Amino acid sequence: MSDSTKGVSRRGFLKGAGSAAAATALLDSAVLTVREATAQITGPPVYGPGRTELALHVNGSERTVLVEPRTTLAAALRDELDLTGTKVVCDRGACSGCTVWIDGLPVASCMTLAIDAAGRKITTIEGLATGDKLHPVQEAFIEKDAMQCGFCTPGMVMTAAALLERNPDPTLDDVKEAVSGNLCRCAVYPQVFEATLAAAKKRKASQIAGS
Ligand code: FES
Ligand code: FES
Repeated sequence: MSDSTKGVSRRGFLKGAGSAAAATALLDSAVLTVREATAQITGPPVYGPGRTELALHVNGSERTVLVEPRTTLAAALRDELDLTGTKVVCDRGACSGCTVWIDGLPVASCMTLAIDAAGRKITTIEGLATGDKLHPVQEAFIEKDAMQCGFCTPGMVMTAAALLERNPDPTLDDVKEAVSGNLCRCAVYPQVFEATLAAAKKRKASQIAGS
């Protein structure tokens, strides 16, 4: 059979396809080069290795800290801002004792770099109350005696309060699941469950009364 057809020969077609592929490859490498160049121009800022000034938005205020890039949020809060309500217990993400909120979500501050929290909304146990008025979860922990040594308590309260923000009417199972990562060596779990449910109930009642 002839290699040629009326319009385009098979050899011509294959040559053309080869040229197109080569052109695409060239174009791709050109695009990559442009991307690389752009990344070099607009890439992430380089911090350190020395101490760097960071602006942290903590409990409604702009605070400035001078920290090394490796500094955790827990260390920045405690050592730079004297917000020692946040406890460092395991310092390895295993107990949730250091829980704070970032943009309303509970996080382990010992596993978060301060630099990664810059520009985000950080709430610590010190920022949970409104003036002299304790958060309903804080009140309920006192009423239900949901603490012994108190080391896990700030983290436990932050986790429980975050639960009520996303689920104002939790079941016992919801509470158990929410605080399942918060370890309490004094084992006051039953009181923690009771306090969280009581806080939810109280919050709901005050919302109904206020509406
Ligand atoms: S101190 Fe952060 S998880 Fe234990
Ligand atoms: S109250 Fe002691 S660890 Fe929880």
